[in-house]
Amino acid sequence: ASTAPVTAAPGLEQRAKAVLPGAAYEFYAAGADEHISASEATDAWRARRLLPRVLRDVSSVDTGLELFGSSLALPVLAAPTAFHRMAHDEGEVATAAGVAAAGSLMVLSSRATRHPEDVAVAAGPWWYQVYWLRDRDVTRRQVERATAAGARALVLTVDAPYVPPRTTAPLPLPRDDELCRSVGAGTRLPGWEQDPSVGPGTISELRRMSGLPVLVKGVMRADDAEACVAAGAAGVIVSNHGGRQLDRAAATADVLPSVVRAVGDRVPVLVDGGIRTGTDVLVALALGARAVLTGRPVLWALAVDGAEGVSGLLDSYRRQLSTAMALAGAARLSEVGPDLLHS
Ligand code: FNR
Repeated sequence: ASTAPVTAAPGLEQRAKAVLPGAAYEFYAAGADEHISASEATDAWRARRLLPRVLRDVSSVDTGLELFGSSLALPVLAAPTAFHRMAHDEGEVATAAGVAAAGSLMVLSSRATRHPEDVAVAAGPWWYQVYWLRDRDVTRRQVERATAAGARALVLTVDAPYVPPRTTAPLPLPRDDELCRSVGAGTRLPGWEQDPSVGPGTISELRRMSGLPVLVKGVMRADDAEACVAAGAAGVIVSNHGGRQLDRAAATADVLPSVVRAVGDRVPVLVDGGIRTGTDVLVALALGARAVLTGRPVLWALAVDGAEGVSGLLDSYRRQLSTAMALAGAARLSEVGPDLLHS
């Protein structure tokens, strides 16, 4: 219908729904409780209005950037999401190949269903997402493996101190890797539960363990962002976990500016949650984000068309962003700033 929201890849979720087992679709699409945060995320980006500049030379538009030493073709990263083998036989390896083909960066979930060494072979630059687990040896082993395999940064996810039961795999997974050996349909991961006593000191512990920059994901408040940076975080990711943790958590579009004001002059601030079009990306950058992440759309693309689906999705984001930048009078990302926002 003509009133359907524009997305980077129209109809993608519906096509994924048609090919995915019902339980897998439900798991990927789920929000917490009443789905309030999950369903408000996109609307909060769409509520912002732009003030386009004119008479700027936009004959060539460059969406590229440098992020922690990696050159990326676009400021849209693949967010860490669990269990890609529920979407595609090759799982995270296919995702990594698609992300690399598009010139972007993948954040590999610690709930991945492929070995990090295998993902690394297919990937361009990639970061590794970590939970601080009750069984610290599991965390240490994960971090050491990811570091040895070539992860360029760690992403410590802090908005999920408890795993709701529904975040365990809803389907039996292939059983040829470490994670899958400990996961059956709907079972918990013994020793793999997040440690709810995680605190700011974890940031420097991870830094010591890996020698890598540590970004903190799941920050929603200026005071927490400040504490992360004071504790040595190299960046913060404003996120409410796609509305899958605390329902009624504010929309990330609405809290991003306060985090940027608090720490944006010292570390990169990234954001995710409901970012579905290149224009959503432009709004996020105008609000002060250095880059954004996209979660569910990558899973839909992976389910529909594997690596090619993922690269096609990210190419669509890049083309849409490029067009939006041209129409807004910004030829490069450094020219995207708060003056582009009308409200
Ligand atoms: C997630 N997310 C997530 N985050 C994380 O740090 N580690 C993880 O393992 C997962 N797993 C996961 C599974 C699924 C199915 C989803 C949808 C999400 C959260 C993810 O990184 C990101 O914050 C949100 O998905 C962003 O919102 P959108 O783009 O999905 O709206």
